[in-house]
Amino acid sequence: MKRAIISDIHGNLEALKAVLDDIKAKGVSDIICLGDIIGYGPNPRECLKLIQDCGSVCIKGNHEEAVLYIGINFNVEAGLAVDWTRNEINSVKYDPVETEMMWNFIGELPRLHEEDDFLYVHASPKEPVREYLRPSDVTNAEKMQDNFNLVRHKCFCGHTHEPGAFVQYTDESVSFYRPADIKSVYNLDENKCIINAGSVGQPRDNDNRACYVIMEDNKVSFHRLAYNYKETMKKILDTKVLPKMLAVRLHAGK
Ligand SMILES: [Fe+2]
Repeated sequence: MKRAIISDIHGNLEALKAVLDDIKAKGVSDIICLGDIIGYGPNPRECLKLIQDCGSVCIKGNHEEAVLYIGINFNVEAGLAVDWTRNEINSVKYDPVETEMMWNFIGELPRLHEEDDFLYVHASPKEPVREYLRPSDVTNAEKMQDNFNLVRHKCFCGHTHEPGAFVQYTDESVSFYRPADIKSVYNLDENKCIINAGSVGQPRDNDNRACYVIMEDNKVSFHRLAYNYKETMKKILDTKVLPKMLAVRLHAGK
């Protein structure tokens, strides 16, 4: 099986197009999206349409939840972005039938997806939409155990925008491997693992290239792609509503 796993697109059309082109060029047609298609970036509708057109399995992220209901634990900038995104999706300049279909798509996104031995979530096994599972959590034995107890074998997540693999060994210790630690390839074995696919549209690991993952048989590879982030930055600034820091961070990759 060859499958691409993408996450945290955040309305960044330039990054999403670059990633989808790369996935296609690599001969992969099976894509799973782990949510946060929207939020922060200037093209929520275009990104929603592209993901819908993929016909892929897609999971609800906390930013989809926020535009539907209310943003929980969102900072000021993220809250402003949620309001802008909701207004942009609802704008009367667009076809109302298409808008309604978009809301139905967002509203029907599942909280998780299970297939074979794999669990797919946006955030964490314990709280699929919201909990942050950060690399530093490897020292929090209780938190890691609570999460690994819910993983039968393997899990994919996003949310932190930091790619890598949490691996639980037979003595229940957990290690986190960044792509640079493992030459960008994690080999699935008998150990349980939770793999973070990183972020397509707003990487936060000091590398501003779009990030995604391909799983082929027992091999999970992390991919980085340069894209025209300056175009995305310009669009963010042109909204005159989305905070400037959302543009600046695309250049910094954090
Ligand atoms: Fe996100």
